[in-house]
Amino acid sequence: MTTDAAQIDRWWRTAVVYQVYIRSFADGNGDGTGDIAGLRSRLGYLRDLGVDAIWINPWYRSPLADGGYDVADYRDIDPQYGTLAEAEALVREAHEHGIKVIGDLVPNHTSEQHVWFQEAINAPIGDPSRERYHIRPGKGPDGSEPPSDWRSVFGGPAWTRLPDGEWYLHLFAPEQPDLNWEHPEVRSEFCDVLRFWMDRDLDGFRVDVAHGLVKAPGYPDANEEQRLLAGARGTENHPFWDRDGIHPIVREWRAVLDGYAGGRMLVAEAWVPRPERLALYLRPDEYHQSFNFSLLEADWTEAAYRKIIEESLESQGAIGAAPTWVMSNHDVVRHATRLGLPEGTDWRDWLLNGDRTVLDADTGVTRARAVALLMLALPGGTYLYQGEELGLPEVHDLPEAVLDDPVWERSGHTAKGRDGCRVPMPWTNEGPAFGFGSDEPWLPMPAEFGAMSVEAQAEVEGSVLELYRAALALRRDHLVDDEMLEFLEAGDGVFAFRRGSGVRCVVNMSTAPVGIDGDVLLTSGPLTDTGELPVDTAVWLR
Ligand code: BGC
Repeated sequence: MTTDAAQIDRWWRTAVVYQVYIRSFADGNGDGTGDIAGLRSRLGYLRDLGVDAIWINPWYRSPLADGGYDVADYRDIDPQYGTLAEAEALVREAHEHGIKVIGDLVPNHTSEQHVWFQEAINAPIGDPSRERYHIRPGKGPDGSEPPSDWRSVFGGPAWTRLPDGEWYLHLFAPEQPDLNWEHPEVRSEFCDVLRFWMDRDLDGFRVDVAHGLVKAPGYPDANEEQRLLAGARGTENHPFWDRDGIHPIVREWRAVLDGYAGGRMLVAEAWVPRPERLALYLRPDEYHQSFNFSLLEADWTEAAYRKIIEESLESQGAIGAAPTWVMSNHDVVRHATRLGLPEGTDWRDWLLNGDRTVLDADTGVTRARAVALLMLALPGGTYLYQGEELGLPEVHDLPEAVLDDPVWERSGHTAKGRDGCRVPMPWTNEGPAFGFGSDEPWLPMPAEFGAMSVEAQAEVEGSVLELYRAALALRRDHLVDDEMLEFLEAGDGVFAFRRGSGVRCVVNMSTAPVGIDGDVLLTSGPLTDTGELPVDTAVWLR
């Protein structure tokens, strides 16, 4: 059955999607790791928060060498997270609450524990089972040099030698061998995996490393610039990022989804160099949506925000796509911390060994509150990362002994990794792990999390949580009917725009309070005694 395009519910165009990092959301069985039982017990919280959908990071069977982005079985749930029956129950219950559920598809690589990889490395050289991966002889007289000079995103070479002398490619950790997407079985397997989850009523998938998948024939060496940009950024004609051969694959997936009723969607995690390249992924028979990470890197200035938003709206509008906005996710320093760092700080470096005294945590949270109103007033979809609705900061002082992200070891301790944004959610003011559900969570939680917990903020006027709840409710009423946005001149350093409903969003990024006019719908913080909008504060006006 092919669904009539006109009848498809394009819910994602305006959706607020809440990212659940399942390992750290809620622990239902007390073993230290978040799980499906925990998530099911908190669906009411997500409904009351007012999100339209959740995106769940990989929950499949996995040795967790990269937090689950190393999948051993795409059709089963990791026992740490629960069972397939529980996953099905979760989807049902989420739907009963009016919440859609998006999974995370990891097609670029499997786990080294995946049966295909085990079969391949246990087979003799030349065995067809090896063709499902990139397993090749090395260079040099005795094959002791890797097939190319490619670097892994996590640091170190992208090739690892097998005991029999051949090499396999892994753009990420060695525990994540890259699949060979020229292989017909790889192609059909993933269409089947998609059907497996669509049959279980998932509403869509976020697609991991969507700009990877296809590698240049013959594995040509990368040039210096390309090596420097190995961090998944993409440059022109790169030997492994954003290659044209990706698109026929996406079209196969899209055809699978189009066979299902109910508006199923694919959102691409695609780091590509130019909007024209991104547009290719968003053609009518490819992805429905793509993440737009540009706000995440923006300086806190009116000019920077305006430029990014203008460009994003223009490039997405030109191809009929709805833009998306993201401030945080499981791969970056939380924005309540980023926004508290001095202008121009490279937050990745700062996390590793930067001066902690330069962090102004109060400013960070004040700006995070303002940016919530900014982002939620923009046309398009918004992705929220669990805990940002509590104003959680990056836990930047995790002891080295607890770091779990492969980036830390693979980079030779030159990058701290992403654990600091993956610390479990605090639900209660007190108690072991602040109600997360375990005595000993998989990452330690700082004492300050108690006062930032859901319990500490729920029903408390002026809390970050209540700000998000109010904003999400008002957004439904005033900000999703159309995609119109008009920039307004509101004075130096003041970012302002009007939406089709007439609601205006004004964000004071200048250094002094500014006057406002109109009925106040919501502010990110208190106005001054004289009714002005303070620095680092946002307002929605009617
Ligand atoms: C995910 C990361 C993961 C990497 C490899 C990224 O896009 O967001 O968390 O480590 O892909 O799968």
